Amino acid sequence: MSRRSPTASVDVIPLVARFPALARLPRISLGTFPTPVVALKTVAPSLWIKRDDLCADPMGGNKTRALEFLLGDLHPGERVVTVGSAGSTHALAVAVYAARIGAHVSVGRWTQEMNATAVRVAQQLAERTDRAPVFRSPLGAYVWALRQRRRGVRWIPAGGSSPLGILGHVNAGLELVAQIDAGMLPQPKRVVVPLGTGGTAAGLALAFRIADRDITVVGARVVPRIVGRARRVQRLANRTARLIEGMSGARLPRVRRHDVSVAHDSYGGAYGRETDKGKEAAARLANATGIVLDPTYSAKAFSLALELAPGGPLLFWLTFDSRILGAS
Ligand SMILES: Cc1ncc(COP(=O)(O)O)c(C=O)c1O
Repeated sequence: MSRRSPTASVDVIPLVARFPALARLPRISLGTFPTPVVALKTVAPSLWIKRDDLCADPMGGNKTRALEFLLGDLHPGERVVTVGSAGSTHALAVAVYAARIGAHVSVGRWTQEMNATAVRVAQQLAERTDRAPVFRSPLGAYVWALRQRRRGVRWIPAGGSSPLGILGHVNAGLELVAQIDAGMLPQPKRVVVPLGTGGTAAGLALAFRIADRDITVVGARVVPRIVGRARRVQRLANRTARLIEGMSGARLPRVRRHDVSVAHDSYGGAYGRETDKGKEAAARLANATGIVLDPTYSAKAFSLALELAPGGPLLFWLTFDSRILGAS
């Protein structure tokens, strides 16, 4: 674990290389970047995978990138609170990394349709947090968290999807652009990610706009429609653009409506519900590569990636890391 001082010149992340003023933001280094991009030729031609599962130990995945900024100025002994579903991987990432800094973590949870992975995440949450009560609805969890926030406990938004957290995903998108420019993969027409709170999709879409790349971010919706909407992603991206503008003085292009598309069919009727298509897709990837997907997010997104891959170079963004949960 190391904190980057604002003047550190080693290891300049792509976001800071492009907007040096952002070096002023407190950031804690949790991962090792860039993460590998690998061709999945044995699964489908024109299909690539971004191994963000490998970005950190003991838990990689997309949330770690956001937490580098969200936990940037967290101190030992501080208290943090977040919210999420009973088996929230975001909440688990907060628990793992805030605890590493020496902070105390509480999570307000709500019930969800469980699957085998969600059960294991829920168990780890119970073990790794100070408190993690499960409410019948998100409202109960938010009200509980609000009471703590009023007592001065630091708030980490659901999914880590505030403009500050989304900077981690903008950085991820710029990292991919550098890999494309280095010839490590062809420029994909589409990048497929699971769409939950939308921060990951928003950050990637903003990065591709900033770098002026014609890459559509396709979100496989895994949450109810009210949360998983392209307009919401666009709004998050543009709030993040304003944060960067405010700090750097640069003028940024805006994410346009057609930069992001949402596949609503991925959902399968409930958050956490395993779909047949997701199960088949996950089995195909596991057989070919040994990579383990989860039913809530990555299996649904990979199924979509397989459907869209014949349409041209496509990158599947692997946001889930199975390692902390033990064998599949
Ligand atoms: C493994 C995994 N993949 C994808 C997502 C979705 O990311 P976002 O909430 O940024 O849309 C999440 C969110 O919790 C996640 O835990």
